[in-house]
Amino acid sequence: MERTYKIAVIAGDGTGPEVIREGLKVLDAVSDRCGFSVERIPYDLGGERYLKTGETLPDSVLSELKRLSAIYLGAIGHPEVKPGILEQGILLKLRFELDQYINLRPVKLYPGVWTPLKDKTPEQIDFVVVRENTEGLYAGIGGNFKKGTPDEVAVQMDVNTRKGVERCIRYACELTRSQGRKKLTLCAKTNVLTYAHDLWTRVFEEVGKEYPDISRDYSHVDALVMWMVKSPEVFDVIVTNNLFGDIITDLGAMIQGGLGIAAGANINPKGVSMFEPIGGSAPKYAGQGAINPLAAIVALSMMLDHLGEREAAGLVEEAVKRVTATKVKSLAAGKMGYTTSEVGDLVVEALRADAAQKTSL
Ligand code: IPM
Ligand code: MN
Repeated sequence: MERTYKIAVIAGDGTGPEVIREGLKVLDAVSDRCGFSVERIPYDLGGERYLKTGETLPDSVLSELKRLSAIYLGAIGHPEVKPGILEQGILLKLRFELDQYINLRPVKLYPGVWTPLKDKTPEQIDFVVVRENTEGLYAGIGGNFKKGTPDEVAVQMDVNTRKGVERCIRYACELTRSQGRKKLTLCAKTNVLTYAHDLWTRVFEEVGKEYPDISRDYSHVDALVMWMVKSPEVFDVIVTNNLFGDIITDLGAMIQGGLGIAAGANINPKGVSMFEPIGGSAPKYAGQGAINPLAAIVALSMMLDHLGEREAAGLVEEAVKRVTATKVKSLAAGKMGYTTSEVGDLVVEALRADAAQKTSL
């Protein structure tokens, strides 16, 4: 029987629809080639819908999403909507409600891509960040007291549960093993966050002992960002909390050449996962064909891998590598030497050429 997947497509705001269109083009090509089929179900969540109807993520949509194979997301964020509404009402709500407790963000320099780190090569910038994705300071627990007065107090709680920390660390151990990697670094701040990060340290040691093949390493977050710039080759897999993961993966995106190629996966290993380019909606580039779709295409490759379509995932990633190595001049919007849609075409072309070559062997 043919393998079939039902994919929710949330193209979203700004340049989201443009990059998702290219991703879907690549999906069509690779599904043809690898013999599976995809039913796409579009959802118009985002700033426009909110401005028209006041809705962010209705419960009815959420329950539909729970029945699908995966979600392919463009970007959420609209210049006319107050910051926070769409992020919390759509993106974070999806992560929390679907219990996507891992945010997986590979930091990988593709061949031919310029990095601001002098003399670093693709062999030296290749690690994965496993970011806890449903707790920490993102839990939204806190409040104000005497708001708006000189005596105002604002409290925002950093929530770290044993269950949440353990499943995140366990996932990171499993990933390290399954990707044939060797070292797992815990990124925290144990010298200051003596309660929360003591929990992370203890769980890291306990769970880590079950994986004797993985070497364990620790770095304070402030030192870690320094090493990310100076010697990125020391990292293999990094596991960290929600906020630190958010921050260090933006730095990661820069050292791998920019947001034009940085992709991420919000994973619930037993539920519905969501795949996205990690850059925002970039409204100033919307409609110009200037934005780079490679991040969305790499996110697609991660989705295929997650669905178990390993061959397809590999073909897409190889095609992206070929395009970065031989075609695009720069990853930056407007400087690629091609339009958004032409870059999508180049990936499809590279994929077909690669697939044809593999068939003839
Ligand atoms: C990300 C984004 C989000 C986050 C924002 C938009 C809420 O920066 O996916 O990294 O902080 O997680
Ligand atoms: Mn972020």
